[in-house]
Amino acid sequence: MTTLAINVEPMSPAIGARIRGIDWREEVDEATARAVHDAFVRYHVLCFPDQKITPQDQVRFAGIFGPPDARYRPRSGESLDAARTRGVMLVSNIRKDGVPIGSLPDGEMMFHSDGAHRNPPYRATTLFAIKIPSRGGETLFANLQAAYAALDEETKARIDGLQVRNIYNYDQTDREGTREDDPNNSVGTHALVKAHPDSGVKSLYLSRLMTRYVVGMDRAESDALLDRLFDHIERPEFVHAHAWTPGDLVIWDNRCTNHARNDFPAEPRLLRRYTISEPA
Ligand code: OGA
Ligand code: MN
Repeated sequence: MTTLAINVEPMSPAIGARIRGIDWREEVDEATARAVHDAFVRYHVLCFPDQKITPQDQVRFAGIFGPPDARYRPRSGESLDAARTRGVMLVSNIRKDGVPIGSLPDGEMMFHSDGAHRNPPYRATTLFAIKIPSRGGETLFANLQAAYAALDEETKARIDGLQVRNIYNYDQTDREGTREDDPNNSVGTHALVKAHPDSGVKSLYLSRLMTRYVVGMDRAESDALLDRLFDHIERPEFVHAHAWTPGDLVIWDNRCTNHARNDFPAEPRLLRRYTISEPA
């Protein structure tokens, strides 16, 4: 596999690129890996269509972007490959004996960034589409670097240095599902404006699903500021809706994007997910 074979095509004016010419069942050379990483930093969301990958292939792919969350030590008698498959999370509405076989089973989901309720958050998320309903269920990606750049100078100055408190309960798809006083919540505090470590480009970092308040700010003032910023970052010019096709392998950068999900009918939907963490 050589870099020359790669074809990078923007998905939309807002965000994302589609890359053809790489088969992720095979190992790629260093130049190809670098070209893919460069595209990731530039476009924030990459889609590789027509893949036929195993969980192990997906972990190897994820490893280009940082440490995949699949680094489990083999149990006694277990192969390393088998151990790697254990880091997987299925996103699915398919039910066995009435119980979903995966997480985030049904319906619409509000904008968020994976792991923003932890410290450190997930650097990136990979999803591989296996079964997709006949309509709906698109994943919406929002470009938070473009959203930051479009703010007026007064707002930029006002939010500079602010910290926000993010609260989330696993498997919730809307803000109401997470009760602020629930002791099982996971909580993370992060800068509202972050510079991307690879490009230095500034980004907003907040979401309607997870961000509750600005640390140290009067609550009414904080609510007004956050509501305004939620509306701003979800404006259509910053968003692209990705309609899935089975075989799509997608990675997104949680440090400078949000994602959400459109509603979909009760038809089988199955995606395989591995995240990539910041090194401990
Ligand atoms: C996720 C997620 C959205 C979707 O896996 O983190 O938000 O479209 N998925 O299923
Ligand atoms: Mn998510």
